[in-house]
This record gives sequence, C-alpha cells and structure tokens, in this order.
Amino acid sequence: MQTLTLLDGHWKDGDVVLNVGCGTGNETIMIVEMDNVSSVIGNVYAAPCAGYTPLMQTFGTILSGHDFEQPTSGYTLALSDGHWKDGDVVLDVGCGTGDETKLIAEMDNVSSVIGVDISPQMIEYAKTQHVISKKVEYIQGDVCRLVEEHPQLSNHFTKVVSFSCFNWFENQKDALKNVSACLSDGGECAIHMSYKSNPVHDANVQMNRHEQWKDQLQGFNDGLYLYPGSPAEFAEVVKTCGFTDVKCYSDDVITKMHSTEDMKDSFRAILGQLNVIPPNQHEDFLQDWLHVFDKINSHDGSETRIYNIPSLFVWARK
Ligand SMILES: C[S@@+](CC[C@H](N)C(=O)[O-])C[C@H]1O[C@@H](n2cnc3c(N)ncnc32)[C@H](O)[C@@H]1O
Repeated sequence: MQTLTLLDGHWKDGDVVLNVGCGTGNETIMIVEMDNVSSVIGNVYAAPCAGYTPLMQTFGTILSGHDFEQPTSGYTLALSDGHWKDGDVVLDVGCGTGDETKLIAEMDNVSSVIGVDISPQMIEYAKTQHVISKKVEYIQGDVCRLVEEHPQLSNHFTKVVSFSCFNWFENQKDALKNVSACLSDGGECAIHMSYKSNPVHDANVQMNRHEQWKDQLQGFNDGLYLYPGSPAEFAEVVKTCGFTDVKCYSDDVITKMHSTEDMKDSFRAILGQLNVIPPNQHEDFLQDWLHVFDKINSHDGSETRIYNIPSLFVWARK
C-alpha cells in the first residue's frame, strides 16, 4: 500500500512500472492487478516460502564426487579445510533462510556466526526460524557495500562462507573486496556460485521468448550473473580483491527433486517471473516453465528429477 500512496495513489492508463527492491513481490502483484497498469517489473532476489528451504537442502545434500555429511553447508565447510578452529567467528554471505548459518553455529568450536542477506524478508524469516542461541545473528545488508553499511564488520571474521549467492549480482569484485575487508589477516573464505550454464537460467531465457508469456515478461531479467571465464581466470580476479592465496575449481552440483509438486513448490519461491504474472496464472506459468526446463534436461517423464548445476568453488586466504 505504501508504494501506491508514495506514487500519489493514481495510476494512469498504460502505466509501465518498475518496483525497485520488490522483496516478496506482494506489492508488485498489487500494482499489476490494477486495470490501467500495463506492466510491472520487479527484480526479486529470492522470497522465503514453503518450497524454498527444501531446494537449498537438496542442493547441498547431493554432490557428485563429494562425500560431505552436512547438508547445504557441506562443500563450503570442506572448502575452508573441513575444520573449524576454536574461536572461529564466521560470516555467512547471502544466508537466505539461515539454514546453513544455523548449522555452522551448532559446531562447538565456532564462537559466533553472522548471517547477512540483502533481502529483509529472508532475514525476518531466518530470525523467526533459527533463534537458537546468542551465537547467531542475522543482519540485512548488501555484500557489495557491506563494510560501508556495517563498519563494525570490518576485520571481524576468521572465516566467510557463501553458498549460491555470488551469481545473483553483477559486481562480484566489490563483493570480494568487502569479504576481504571483513576478514582478519590470515582469514579464509569459501564461496560457491552457479557457473557458466545453468538450466534454470536457460529455461528463463526460453520463457522470455515463449509465445504465451513473452509480452508479460518483456524486460524481465532473471538476475543470474554467470562468470564466463575459466576458474583460473576467476582466481586472478579474486587475487586482485585483497587475497594472497586463492584456489578455484569448477564442479557439478547434482540436484534431485522427488516429485513434480516439490519441484513446483521450490521454483514457486525462486522464479522472479511470478512477481510480474498475476497469481491466477501462476499454475499455468509453472506448468509451462517446467515443460521447458524438462526439455532442456532431457527429462524422461518420471516424477523424480535430477539435474545438474555447474558450479564454481572458490577458496581464498587474506
Ligand atoms: C540462492 S539463495 C542461497 C541462500 C543460502 N546461502 C542457502 O544456501 O540456502 C541466495 C541468497 O543471496 C541473497 N543475495 C542476493 N544478492 C545479495 C547481495 N548483494 N548481498 C547479500 N545477499 C544477497 C538472496 O537474497 C538470497 O537469499
């Protein structure tokens, strides 16, 4: 309602609206439902909802070639050597629902963890779900401007982890510089991000051209920024951002969904397009999106879906 009032309460015929920082998209949907508004673009980060957490857990649980015990945080932990040291102070960048943050906080030798996320909704959700101890704190912030926004985080951490976040913004260098600034000397970071081709991104691109949806999706940007170079090239980028020792490699993250309903629930939370499509068309959109996604993955028609997320893993020491 606030945005409506801010814009003077009057929409003109044919209005084309950008909702900056649209969050869950609730407002965006309210705007698009107004008769005289012709389209709204709300670039959403990710909205917490029922389906979101299972997807993230699946990401972490099934990893080709790796045998990590902890879901979700498995490889980020392993990347930072698999061992937490006594007194570790950890930052979880792009903590989302906070599941990973909570797992880290549960480790005995970790002294404290801060989960940071740009989405206020995610932070609210994490706070309500994971109020486990004084060891965990969740704060809202943009990793690309973190030290400016929260100067108290400068030089504060022995470890920084980040899962599936760095592919959500373009300015990865600024984010890396902020991560370095947050680490104390000798501190380590471990970052996972989607890399090169991503079937979700590919399905989104095809849906932008889909006969039934292309008009509604005009100008929609799915917000994924996939680094185009090699891991060695990315390692060079990381070095220029305040790190001395850097390792980078690419690997596949195999994701498994147990049913079509799980799949839809998960992507209902992830697909920003649903913020520009009226709610009464969401099921049809999800159906078409899934059809396109299945074709990309040569899906055999069964209820279980297994697909691959090519990923880039970064470990670096300040
Ligand atoms: C795919 S989710 C991953 C969540 C969590 N790390 C996990 O493993 O479940 C990516 C998260 O990154 C957050 N994000 C995107 N851009 C960000 C930024 N510039 N600064 C901080 N968080 C950001 C999103 O809001 C979202 O919650």
